[in-house]
Amino acid sequence: MSELAAHLDRHDTIRAVNYADGVLRLLDQRELPFTEAHIECRNAIEVAKAIKDLVVRGAPAIGIAAAWGVVLQAGLLEGAGEPVSIAALDSTFGTLNAARPTAVNLAWALARMRATLAAAKDDPLGALTAEARAIQDEDLAANRKMGEIGASFFADGIGVLTHCNTGSLATAGFGTALGVIRAGYAGGKIARVYAGETRPWLQGARLTMWELVRDRIPAKLIADSAASHLMKSGVVQWVIVGADRIAANGDTANKIGTYQLAISAKRHGVKFMVVAPWSTVDMATKHGDDIEIELRDPAELLSISGKRTVVDGADAWNPVFDVTPAELIDVIVTERGAIQKPFGPGLAKLAGVQG
Ligand code: MRU
Repeated sequence: MSELAAHLDRHDTIRAVNYADGVLRLLDQRELPFTEAHIECRNAIEVAKAIKDLVVRGAPAIGIAAAWGVVLQAGLLEGAGEPVSIAALDSTFGTLNAARPTAVNLAWALARMRATLAAAKDDPLGALTAEARAIQDEDLAANRKMGEIGASFFADGIGVLTHCNTGSLATAGFGTALGVIRAGYAGGKIARVYAGETRPWLQGARLTMWELVRDRIPAKLIADSAASHLMKSGVVQWVIVGADRIAANGDTANKIGTYQLAISAKRHGVKFMVVAPWSTVDMATKHGDDIEIELRDPAELLSISGKRTVVDGADAWNPVFDVTPAELIDVIVTERGAIQKPFGPGLAKLAGVQG
């Protein structure tokens, strides 16, 4: 193992999604950073609720959790002496798929599980368990690979800005955009890291800063509204973000606020990198306008940590993702390779590459 890989291993300690013996144990991300609590799911309905309530969040992590949700439900069927079949699990697939609409990783993981079940002969539960494990392991491997590929774009001594949480908490481990930041920092390329707090749910403040502090990567939190001022000051050369769905033309859905970062990056000559595993690429969605944007409860905007901050009677609008047009993106990094404009042909070519 190279010195860099060993260094990265030492920093790759967080696992948010853990399955063993009929129980899915999820690190409760609603409670971080002050409480490291776990919740245990024993059936698919509990997993779907955990995804909807953001106990587990981040595009790859919700796909992985959903895959284990299918395993839990299949285990219950087998335990009850009932056949583990597509017909018996059809509503389970539907319930898990409906938990959140924007991240395609959810539907992607469930499609893999459904295909595995359809092909399984004598041990469907065993086949489903192996497939869920493969989905989780492949995501970790993809993240390590993307870390290497993404960091190869950086000059020495750069500053970067990231948004939301794209780290170990949002994936099988290591992270997508945060994985590139981990690799870039470990390789001595990244000198300064800034993270936007990511209102309203504070993924940046509560989760990304928690991961960075644990990894001893020096980082500064900024208010989301400080991003343009930061870019104008010249201390960041790259904005690095993850994705929830990348359309066939490169348009990218990610956490609300990503689009305005891309506009500002273009205005200030800052490069814009999207980092996502191939499971986030949706070649069936031609254009970003076709991506469903999740609208969440306005109450998430009207309070902070359960304390109301807005006058009673006020309403709010709470879209939690936006779409960054491909023209504002400089590079998309996947485990199959990195592509630059025009993204359509680049993505089509990578679609033909075996994962
Ligand atoms: O609402 P969330 O916290 O699930 O949103 C997460 C994001 O938008 C991430 O940037 C994206 O899922 C990529 S995570 C590797």
